[in-house]
Amino acid sequence: MDTMELNNIQNKAIETVANLNNLQDLEAARVSLLGKNGQITQLLKQLGTLAPEDRKTFGQQVNKVKVEVTSALEKRKNKLEIEELNKKLASEAVDITLPATHKVIGKMHPVSYVMEEVASVLGKVGFNHAVGKEIETDFYNFTALNIPDDHPARQDHDTFYIKTKDDEERKVLRTQTSNVQIHTMEDNKPPLRIMSIGRVYRCDSDVTHTPQFHQVEGLALDTNLHFGHLKGTLQKFMTDYFERDVKIRMRPSYFPFVEPGTEVDIGCLFCNGEGCRICSNTGWLEVLGAGMVHRNVLKNCGVDSEKYQGFAFGAGIERLAMLKYGINDLRLFYESQEAFLNHFGKVPASVSAKL
Ligand code: PHE
Repeated sequence: MDTMELNNIQNKAIETVANLNNLQDLEAARVSLLGKNGQITQLLKQLGTLAPEDRKTFGQQVNKVKVEVTSALEKRKNKLEIEELNKKLASEAVDITLPATHKVIGKMHPVSYVMEEVASVLGKVGFNHAVGKEIETDFYNFTALNIPDDHPARQDHDTFYIKTKDDEERKVLRTQTSNVQIHTMEDNKPPLRIMSIGRVYRCDSDVTHTPQFHQVEGLALDTNLHFGHLKGTLQKFMTDYFERDVKIRMRPSYFPFVEPGTEVDIGCLFCNGEGCRICSNTGWLEVLGAGMVHRNVLKNCGVDSEKYQGFAFGAGIERLAMLKYGINDLRLFYESQEAFLNHFGKVPASVSAKL
């Protein structure tokens, strides 16, 4: 092989390398030129077959070809590597001037979070959750609560009755959470302190009534319980729930299952008692019904009324939510308007911590 041929091999190799456009092809070319069986490697292997006097010059010439081709391969490799990196950077580039995509996060409905707030406030003073039934027998919703069949108080609750078979006891959608009092006292021994929060139903629908709404019921049963304990508990409940100093006032009232019974007002949160439209200029807002559990109710549940006394209270969740958060129309809770839910909904702390 003469110098011309060697030059040809070198030029051809350098030209091929210069035209390769990716690293895989370049590697394949390196193997076919300089690999174990590569073209140039083969030339070096031929050295042994040459006459000793030719070996030196040929060896030097082939080595020169090898050096040139190696350097061409390396140069091309560097260039291709930079090109590929630039391509990757361009394709992965983030345009930080684009407006952010809006994340739509579900929020807790005010009724749901007020139920949680109430549970947390009462939970801190020892009230445990009790779960009640929404489809209830007439007995638990009325009779056991000292509201017998012919009692006028039944008319106050516009009740949804449920069709039952002739021999079955009449069933209702509970009109109040007070039914839980009866189940609790039947199934547990005093002392006890429970809260029950859930749905109630009344066949009534206007600006201030919806056929389904929510109540919280509290019941405490113990020896030596008196009206002062009830008042203290309600004062704490209201102060902690509204998160400010709240005045409370108890007016005598009538609920068949308590004696004495009381309607509980709080000092108006909007005018500090001076009188405004929301409190009808009275300075007070009605929030609760409460009282000492009637001895007939205790008797109905098999509780010794000589030994034990109880107090109970009940409040509407929607009303508590409206007063605390300044929501002025009950119907908004159930219309599923996005603007309302966005404004009054809350992202639960457990979720917002992850955002
Ligand atoms: N259940 C009564 C209501 O629905 C509230 C209440 C509960 C009153 C407990 C007294 C005691 O209005």
